[in-house]
Amino acid sequence: MFTPDLRVAVCLLSLLSWAIPGQAAQSTPNLGQAVSEEQLQGLDLIVMPNGNGLPEGSGSAVQGQVLYEQQCESCHGAQGEGSPGVPALVGGSTTDTPPLMTVGSYWPYATTVYDYIRRAMPPTAPKSLSDDEVYQVVAYVLQLNGLITETFELNRNTLPAVVMPNRNGFIDRSQVQQVRP
Ligand code: HEC
Repeated sequence: MFTPDLRVAVCLLSLLSWAIPGQAAQSTPNLGQAVSEEQLQGLDLIVMPNGNGLPEGSGSAVQGQVLYEQQCESCHGAQGEGSPGVPALVGGSTTDTPPLMTVGSYWPYATTVYDYIRRAMPPTAPKSLSDDEVYQVVAYVLQLNGLITETFELNRNTLPAVVMPNRNGFIDRSQVQQVRP
């Protein structure tokens, strides 16, 4: 059992170990490396809901189908129906209870789909798709959801104009009066 004296000794020892030369001299927490300006540029992939930040380029669903079959279908299914542990990209409606949340039934902006796929998909090689390829595969996902035709060309002007079914389904909490019990 610990006696009070022993507890004091343990405290002192742990304080001493903090002051080991070398560690004590460190001025930063040593949690990683500083990010260079160049790396920061590469991370700046944000596309805003209104389309700000969308890159040049274009693509249609006809082109996107090829890419989808090569890089997406194995996980998301031939018709975007999903697979165990992988969300469906197609189906559902804004009135389902409980809701099946897919790109078509849930996402309020088509621009966000671009942003998400460009930065995160496929998960084995995020950011590997070119800007054109992302337009193509977004077009295919939108077409599978019946939101555009297979030859409709998506680009930085036409993509923000695609109105998603759940466009008005979200509540702006800043506009809601908070009611507290
Ligand atoms: C290795 C399996 C895999 C591959 C390949 C893959 N995905 Fe995904 N995808 C996932 C998983 C898992 C998630 C869910 C990630 C999460 O919620 O954190 C996801 C999420 C998504 C979402 C968001 C769905 C939602 O409503 O939350 C989209 C859109 C998407 N993927 C598109 C694509 C596209 C387009 C491709 C091909 C370029 C692709 N994915 C390739 C596994 C995959």
